[in-house]
Amino acid sequence: MKIKIQPSILAADFGKLDEDIVSVEEHIDGIHFDVMDGHFVPNLTVGAPVLKCLKTKLPVDAHLMVTNPEDLIEDFAKAGAVMLSFHIEVTDNPLEIIQKIKDNGMKAGIALNPDTEFEAIENILNELDYVLIMSVFPGFGGQKFIPEVVGKIRKIREARPDIDIQIDGGINGETAKIAKEAGANWLVAGSYIFGAEDRKKAVASLR
Ligand code: DX5
Ligand code: ZN
Repeated sequence: MKIKIQPSILAADFGKLDEDIVSVEEHIDGIHFDVMDGHFVPNLTVGAPVLKCLKTKLPVDAHLMVTNPEDLIEDFAKAGAVMLSFHIEVTDNPLEIIQKIKDNGMKAGIALNPDTEFEAIENILNELDYVLIMSVFPGFGGQKFIPEVVGKIRKIREARPDIDIQIDGGINGETAKIAKEAGANWLVAGSYIFGAEDRKKAVASLR
């Protein structure tokens, strides 16, 4: 499968988001837009009004780390997101949320915390466009990759050979290899890309 790279805006400078995105735009496959609500995770970032102001033409993937994703889906679609993922840990009714994402014209993904098992999504895997495997506990950038999550990647890849599997958290030149070897084909990286002296080189080293 083709390897795709998404930089996470969390490590960019929020005061000049457009400028930071432009600095990597021609080397990447999309933007990973981290949304945190201060409830599901102990941190607060940005929402649809900020996304609406971004000038990028690249596909934007919204990663919703919030307790009420169903209430925000329409706003994100209107603001320009083309993909949206929510956390399985926040709901007992994922199918309804998946349907709402699709009804709003976006691709639907589910994110799993490092300690959430594959079995939590096994029965709904066929309804999903992509899965987001968290390799750190969500909330902050710059954390260390948790290698134990690769077993989950292998199980998903085996069950759905065609599905897009994203890996998010602590990705760098070394951990990217581990994730790809297990079957991940979309790499999300924040600090490794935006913190690099040569961002183009950092992106290339992940492919
Ligand atoms: C973590 C976010 C990630 C994060 C990744 O809660 O979901 O997207 O920004 O940052 P790095 O690549 O620095 O681990
Ligand atoms: Zn993320």
